Amino acid sequence: MNSNITNTLLVGSNGRIGKAICEHLINNNHNVFGIDIKNTKKKHENYIFSNVNITKSAQIDKFFDTNKKINFLNLIYCAYPFNKSWGTKFEKLNFKNLSENITSQLTSQIYFLKNFFNHSIKNKARVKVILFSSIQGLGSPKFEHYKSLNMGTPIEYSATKASVINITKYLAKYYKGYGYNINCISPGGIKDNQNKIFIKRYKKSSLNNGLLDPKDILSTVDFLISNKSKFINGQNIIVDDGWSI
Ligand SMILES: NC(=O)c1ccc[n+]([C@@H]2O[C@H](COP(=O)([O-])OP(=O)(O)OC[C@H]3O[C@@H](n4cnc5c(N)ncnc54)[C@H](O)[C@@H]3O)[C@@H](O)[C@H]2O)c1
Repeated sequence: MNSNITNTLLVGSNGRIGKAICEHLINNNHNVFGIDIKNTKKKHENYIFSNVNITKSAQIDKFFDTNKKINFLNLIYCAYPFNKSWGTKFEKLNFKNLSENITSQLTSQIYFLKNFFNHSIKNKARVKVILFSSIQGLGSPKFEHYKSLNMGTPIEYSATKASVINITKYLAKYYKGYGYNINCISPGGIKDNQNKIFIKRYKKSSLNNGLLDPKDILSTVDFLISNKSKFINGQNIIVDDGWSI
């Protein structure tokens, strides 16, 4: 671990977006403290991985206790926990699975953030935080994109992603005067071997490109953790090739 560079805490470091951010930051003067339940990244001196299941409060507590002396300057939260029932059609939702998914995406995130900010206050760190919402958190889905394709986007996803936008605003204001920057990014859909018809429909609703590569989000991450965004706070930055306009 290099002690002269920025410590960035990255939750969901093994995901599509998380991996791209991780690779980018360790090559750009960050010690990345990655949290995930899986780790496929090769060892690197600037990458410190912790296996933490963020749906278990005791594991979150233990992580912050173990790392109490580490001065994290950035938090990027892009974990995406869900159970086996994820994607169930609206008509067939069951209370237990629905609650579990909403809890793992929202309760866990709020609890993690509580711990993170308590930790930052103890370490007197002026932190920059990036949460991840989605274009599905902005309004209703384009249901026509999924027609006859055995695909969809669950109502819980729209609910939790809309909440992330408001959690961002809440915390930005809650910590008025602390010198923090707390923002979120709403990416458009990311390429992931989707059905060709879906890709075509999706592209038709976009302006130039259609589905994104995880790398397309990196410049926005760089901007939000830099001092160039010093007076951008509580905002949702949409990176979606115009899909949502
Ligand atoms: N992929 C997209 O099309 C897309 C579009 C818009 C927004 N987003 C948002 O971006 C964020 C990242 O998405 P992604 O596509 O990289 O997701 P992903 O599923 O590829 O990655 C999520 C990561 O979270 C980890 N994770 C899951 N459960 C966990 C748990 N209990 N504890 C710790 N880690 C856990 C997974 O192991 C995985 O590495 C999410 O918030 C998602 O909603 C994604």
